[in-house]
Amino acid sequence: MAADAGLVTVEPNPDLAAVAAELFADDPRVTVVHGDARDVLPPLAPFDLLFLDGGPWKQEPEERLLELIAPGGVVVMDDLTPGRPGPDPVRQFWLDHPRVLATELLTTPTTAAIVAARLP
Ligand SMILES: C[S@@+](CC[C@H](N)C(=O)[O-])C[C@H]1O[C@@H](n2cnc3c(N)ncnc32)[C@H](O)[C@@H]1O
Repeated sequence: MAADAGLVTVEPNPDLAAVAAELFADDPRVTVVHGDARDVLPPLAPFDLLFLDGGPWKQEPEERLLELIAPGGVVVMDDLTPGRPGPDPVRQFWLDHPRVLATELLTTPTTAAIVAARLP
């Protein structure tokens, strides 16, 4: 991370949040927030990069997620299953959304990531 960059990480489990806060205690660029990302992130937005690493917003994306991302900013999520059969609301949301430009990348032969940029 650049010296003037900031990183916010959110964790609803109080024990995990406390461990993360301790781990980053000596780095003023990092803010560890205890709570639900859906509640605590909107007031801190917009972000240039949003890594969806779990929680309901990864499984069930919502329109208001887009307001967290600066125009031109990027959303990344990994641990997806490539070639998953049937309707897939996560892929449909990101790959078909008119306000983002998104692609799916294989990270291994059996795992995939989606990288989505918010259009200006
Ligand atoms: C796959 S783990 C990733 C943890 C961490 N980012 C890492 O790489 O070690 C997903 C995490 O999302 C957290 N989580 C679940 N619901 C959440 C929510 N509503 N808001 C924020 N985080 C949530 C879980 O408690 C869990 O720690």
